[in-house]
Parts: sequence; structure tokens; C-alpha cells
Amino acid sequence: MFNKNEFGENFKWGISTAAYQIEGAHNVDGKGASIWDTFSNQSKKIVGNHNGNQACDFYNRYVDDLQLIKSLNIPNFRFSISWSRILPNGTGVVNQKGVDFYNRLIDSALELGIDPWVTLYHWDLPQELENKGGWTNREVVNWFSDYVELCAKKFGDRVNHWMILNEPMVFTGAGYFLGVHAPGRKGLRNFIPAVHHATLCQSQGARILKSIHPNSQIGTTFSCSHLEPNTNSEKDRIATIKVDALINRLFIEPSLGLGYPTNDLKLLDRIYSYFQPNDEKLLPYDFDFIGLQNYTREIVTHSYFVPLLNAKLIKADKRKVPVTLMNWEVYPESIYQTLKKYDAYPQIKKIIITENGAAFHDTHFDGKIIDEPRTNYLKTHIREVLRAKQEGVKVEGYFVWTLLDNFEWAEGYYPRFGLVHNNFMTQERIIKQSGYWYKQFLE
Ligand code: FCB
Repeated sequence: MFNKNEFGENFKWGISTAAYQIEGAHNVDGKGASIWDTFSNQSKKIVGNHNGNQACDFYNRYVDDLQLIKSLNIPNFRFSISWSRILPNGTGVVNQKGVDFYNRLIDSALELGIDPWVTLYHWDLPQELENKGGWTNREVVNWFSDYVELCAKKFGDRVNHWMILNEPMVFTGAGYFLGVHAPGRKGLRNFIPAVHHATLCQSQGARILKSIHPNSQIGTTFSCSHLEPNTNSEKDRIATIKVDALINRLFIEPSLGLGYPTNDLKLLDRIYSYFQPNDEKLLPYDFDFIGLQNYTREIVTHSYFVPLLNAKLIKADKRKVPVTLMNWEVYPESIYQTLKKYDAYPQIKKIIITENGAAFHDTHFDGKIIDEPRTNYLKTHIREVLRAKQEGVKVEGYFVWTLLDNFEWAEGYYPRFGLVHNNFMTQERIIKQSGYWYKQFLE
């Protein structure tokens, strides 16, 4: 076994969450609706017709939950701000009660010696802004800029670590292309402008924060999967290059000054029609760190049936490999390969793994929750992070996804990712074996 000292004293250990997945209190104290409130309350959008109205009731239980984090020896807590809690219409009038909530949360964390890491956008766009076109409307750059400025001014005196966006590929891809996440829009005509505007917000948001708090550490996060072609054929290899451009390179490369990877992804050519004269200069930003979120590897094959991309992923259950409840392959080396891949970009200064974790059925035994598969998942993945670090990869932090079983987007409450079990009827929390393992590891 390895121990945490092998990662060095400055390595940041943490736990990650997101507002909509835990807060609940969806319509109290002046909060406005977000696209996730709307989407999850429509019928048949979410497995089991679940919604995030109550979730883990973190809004009312944050003091106890911070104590829980403290008791698990976790020094860094990543959470997101709900835009429509502080700006109910997305822009304009500020909801003081919402601001007060995040002030209390930040202050309580700091009192316990827990460092707050704040994500500005974890998918819950104010519904009022979606009514005006949401991410497809160029105005979103101005709306987002005002929101970021407000957060910087209200919370920036105490928050040192910021992440601008959470996984832009997922919220634009699932939300504006596939329609399986909020706001449920489909097609390239929604996806392409959403991509461009999110990429602009990614760098603009960072510039605004930095101008107000020059000493803060600013990052942004990306979903990334290690990809392998199904066979060595030319067709599968080309398919893999295209999927890589789409899911691993699309949002990071413009920020690194490399532009959109349209050479390898012709279907995105249309993006330039959304450019305004100065955009090329606005896309890059020199982030202090890059957050990588890796859960699995994907196998890619050529497909005549997928228009434009001509590529598809082979689902893990078809490959007879070990899987999690999300049907994601358990493949620890994927996190090592992911770290190596991004480390090779000389422009990236520092990498933090801002999410990694797994959903499994948890076994209850004698009042305890024995989650051997999750415990093993964490151990084997953290070991792969160490392997990369020992080879000189500039990885300086690791955050587990997640503290509590919570509202897992389109999958509802079914897949449990928490280190802490949540009973959604009583809101009783029970630390799982994996939580005790992490606690002991961090001691
Ligand atoms: C990531 C999301 C996070 C959570 C995990 C399982 O894509 O950022 O909110 O749902 O997946």
C-alpha cells in the first residue's frame, strides 16, 4: 500500500459536490428557478421521475455536513454556487438571502479549517436566461460576466480557489445536442453556438475574477475519458481521433491558444460563423490550474450510422468488462493515461483531479455500509495518480466525487456515488466503509 505522504505536503486532497445535486430548497428564500428545476419537474425526463427539489437538503444541513467533512479529515471542499439563488432572474436584482447562504457556508467551512473551492457554473442556468435562448444566445457572455463579478465581489475575499465551468462538454452536449439533460434541446444548431459561448465564458469569467482578485487561483474543469480504438484498423483509428477532438480537446484547446480542433472535427466548422471580430483573442486564458474529471475509458469504433462523426462508443456492458452502476468500465489506468495526455500540453501549468469516483450498490450489514467495490475503486485510481506523479506529471490534487449520495442528473437518486450514504426519506447520513478508508488515508 501507498500512503498520502508519497504525494508530497502540498498535494490538495478534497471532496467535490454541486449545488443542484445536494442543496434542495429549490424555491425558498427568494431563489429563482434554474433549468434543472424546470427539467427535472417535467415528466419522464429523469429515471423514476425524480427531481432535485429536496435532494440532500444541504441548504439546511450544511453545518452538520461540514462537520462530517471535518470528521473525515478532508481539508478541501469543492461546491458550486447556484446562479439563480443569488440572481433569481439570472441578471439584475440580487437575492440577499442567497448571498447570505453562501457567506455562511464559506465562513463555516473556514472556521473548521476547510478550504472552500468554488465552481461558478455546475449546469444550473437560471430559467429566465434559458427563456431568452440560454447558452445559444451570445448575450450569455454578458450575463455570465455580471454573475462572476458579483461572486468575486461577495465571496472573493475568502475564497482562493475557483473553477469557472464544470464540464462544458457535458452541459452543451447532453443539454443542447442530445437533449437528455436540461434544458433538453437538440441538434447541432443549438450545440454549436452553445459551445462557442461557453468557451468565451470560460476565459472571460477567469479574466474578470483575476482582475478583481489577482492572487486567487483560477481553474476550470473538463470531463475527459481515455480513448482506445476498437481495432487497429484505419477506420477505427480515425474514429478515435474524431471522438477525442470532440470529447477531450474541444474546450481546453481554445483556452490554451490552440483554437478549436476543427481540423480533426469537420462537423464543427460552422462554429466560425458565430465568431465576432475579436473572438480569437478572447478565447485563450492562462489558467493557474486545469481540473480534470475522469471516471473511465471508452472504446471507439467506426460507424456509418452516426452522421458527420462516423464514430461511436462501444458500451461497457457489451465488452464484458467490470462496470459501475453507470455502466462505466472500471479501468484504473484510465486516470493515469488521462494525466499523461494532458501533461503533454506545455501550456498547462498545474493539474488537479477535480472529480473521480464510482456508483455501486451498497451492502447494508448490521447498520454499517460495506462498499468494498467503491473502496477498491478509490485505492486503485489514487495509486494510478501516484504513478503519474512519480513519473513527473504536474498533478497537484485529487478530489473524490462525492460526499453524499445525491441527485445524479438524468439518473435521479438511483446511482449512489457518496462516501456517505444518504437516506432520502429521513436525510440520515451514514459514513460508508469507503468514507472511513479515505478518512484513515488522510489522517
Ligand atoms: C460528472 C459531473 C458530476 C457528477 C459526476 C458523476 O460528470 O460533473 O456532477 O454527476 O459526473
